[in-house]
Amino acid sequence: MLAATAQPTLCDMTEDTRPWPQDGRERLIYPSPVGWKGTDFVDNEGELLKLLNPKTVFMMGDNPALPRMPERPRLLDFFRCRFGDITVRHLLISAKRALDDGLPEKVVMACLLHDISNGCLIRCDHGYWSAQLVGPYVDPEVAFAVKYHQALRYVPDESVGYAYPESYHAFFGPDYEVPEYLLRDAEYAKNHKWYMTARQMTLYDTYFFDDFPVVQPEELEDVIGRNFKEPEEGLGFDGSPTAHMWRTMIWPNNFL
Ligand SMILES: [Fe+2]
Ligand SMILES: [Fe+2]
Repeated sequence: MLAATAQPTLCDMTEDTRPWPQDGRERLIYPSPVGWKGTDFVDNEGELLKLLNPKTVFMMGDNPALPRMPERPRLLDFFRCRFGDITVRHLLISAKRALDDGLPEKVVMACLLHDISNGCLIRCDHGYWSAQLVGPYVDPEVAFAVKYHQALRYVPDESVGYAYPESYHAFFGPDYEVPEYLLRDAEYAKNHKWYMTARQMTLYDTYFFDDFPVVQPEELEDVIGRNFKEPEEGLGFDGSPTAHMWRTMIWPNNFL
């Protein structure tokens, strides 16, 4: 069973006095297979099932080891309460640099959202997952840039000074071969009318943690207000085609 420890966070829900679900019982967590297949994590679903008794339950709903999300979560609540530190810093700095450089707000938004699925959902094919996640709430041009940035990152474009990332040599090895589906999708994006929105986003997709000041989520609030349709019911509860993906990030440990 995974032991969860509370992590330091930007999320401040100290005013929230709602009781926690499943109180008084031990909550068992069975992590989603997509996060551990092929690792040394030993599949323990059978063992956990044997532990069930009146004092144990499988985790469902708010996990007390995680910061509590507001009842009607907004985009930045996920940055503050759920996403990993590196994803938060990377997205905020990418967006703030594009904003400071006077790029169109669609590019700034694409920068802010481009790796969002890495924060608390799924990493494999993160451009595709991220685009789908935000699709109902942003301009299609922003979703396009988010989707295709993944493929375009592998493809140089000398006309704008974009080269294959040095970091990818370190990440994947110098002999890494870009899969055919990404090359195909990059080619499609290159011939699309929104190519430059996606391409400009990739120019800000770099890691500047050391030489760029810390960006607070609030600094992007105005741009978000103009470019992200926050649903009244809160992300996860508005019945959009991707509401379940936001709920998965609110309750990442749910058994079902
Ligand atoms: Fe990315
Ligand atoms: Fe990125």
